[in-house]
Amino acid sequence: MARHPAVLIPGDGIGPEVTEAVVRILEAAGATIAWEEQPAGLAALEQTGEVLPSRTLDAISRTKLALKGPCTTPVGEGFSSVNVQLRKAFNLYAAVRPVRSLPGVETRFRDVDLVIIRENTEGLYSGVENEITPGVVMSMKVATTRGCERIARWAFNYARQRDRRRITVFHKANIMKLTDGLFIRCAREAHAEGYSDIAYEEAIIDAGCMRLVQDPGQFDMLLLENLYGDVVSDLCAGLVGGLGVVPGANIGDDGAIFEAVHGSAPDIAGKGLANPLALLMSAVMLLNYLVEQTGDEACRTAATRIKAAYDLALEQGEKTRDLGGQLSTNEFADAVIARL
Ligand code: NAI
Repeated sequence: MARHPAVLIPGDGIGPEVTEAVVRILEAAGATIAWEEQPAGLAALEQTGEVLPSRTLDAISRTKLALKGPCTTPVGEGFSSVNVQLRKAFNLYAAVRPVRSLPGVETRFRDVDLVIIRENTEGLYSGVENEITPGVVMSMKVATTRGCERIARWAFNYARQRDRRRITVFHKANIMKLTDGLFIRCAREAHAEGYSDIAYEEAIIDAGCMRLVQDPGQFDMLLLENLYGDVVSDLCAGLVGGLGVVPGANIGDDGAIFEAVHGSAPDIAGKGLANPLALLMSAVMLLNYLVEQTGDEACRTAATRIKAAYDLALEQGEKTRDLGGQLSTNEFADAVIARL
């Protein structure tokens, strides 16, 4: 079968190192993808004067598929997040983050296997802010029936397709009665529409976080609004070995961008210390998405081979430093390739 065109965004910080390692592994595994590299983030600002150049947006509009390294967002000043802009530009309303315990990665818990579904376009995370008067600033939390219904239905559909048994919504509707109230109402309605085979549960987010760190094995799928999903994703990453091992997908009705949960990690950038596994797992999600979209068996085979190879590498103690090993980014990529 012909190669599938997909945009590759190396991004900032550790982004270029991990994307290079991942592309090398995908090539070795026979993934039928034709990468088109495009800039975004600080790297793009330096190259083109824009953080999100129109040529990058055009390329994603054409391919409807991208693998993206992390992009730096300045704290407390400067340009608004490229990640948020991309999710909004392509209406990638569902963020999917599978979190699972890995072989050979020692953590407090051995039985974590949950999927986080985060609403990706609304809520406080949109960063709609203004200064009312000097010394008084405001941030808007916007929730719409359309957005809340859409993500709830998407989550239940996903649960059914993947044989997941239970969805727990984390919310703060006791305080944010209107916005989070709408979120849980739409989730309840979606559940009642015909998903009685999937158990439905709600937890106030603070108590939910306590339950997560006490016993994550009790959760199957979490459904959260945007900001809660952002925070809880990193919390869950901490349960299974850290940000180096949690992948992600941003999915809409007409395209998808795959990226790790982690950021550009400026503290370790350029040193060969970054774990490429989170982006590699995101690339495996991309391959599985292509299987669903096109039925290309070569993508299924490549995804299966890569997953088996990195599981085996970890089991045999081939790990980067964040997981207690000694390997560099490229050495870990070599270890995976050797086991394909
Ligand atoms: P971060 O996720 O970049 O790093 C947090 C900690 O985890 C750091 O100690 C880092 O070294 C470590 N870490 C992250 N990924 C790792 C990997 N693959 N291997 C080994 N260690 C890893 O979060 P931080 O420092 O809060 O943010 C840095 C920048 O990244 C910010 O500008 C932020 O806005 C941006 N960011 C971008 C995201 C994206 O593009 N989707 C997501 C999250 C943050």
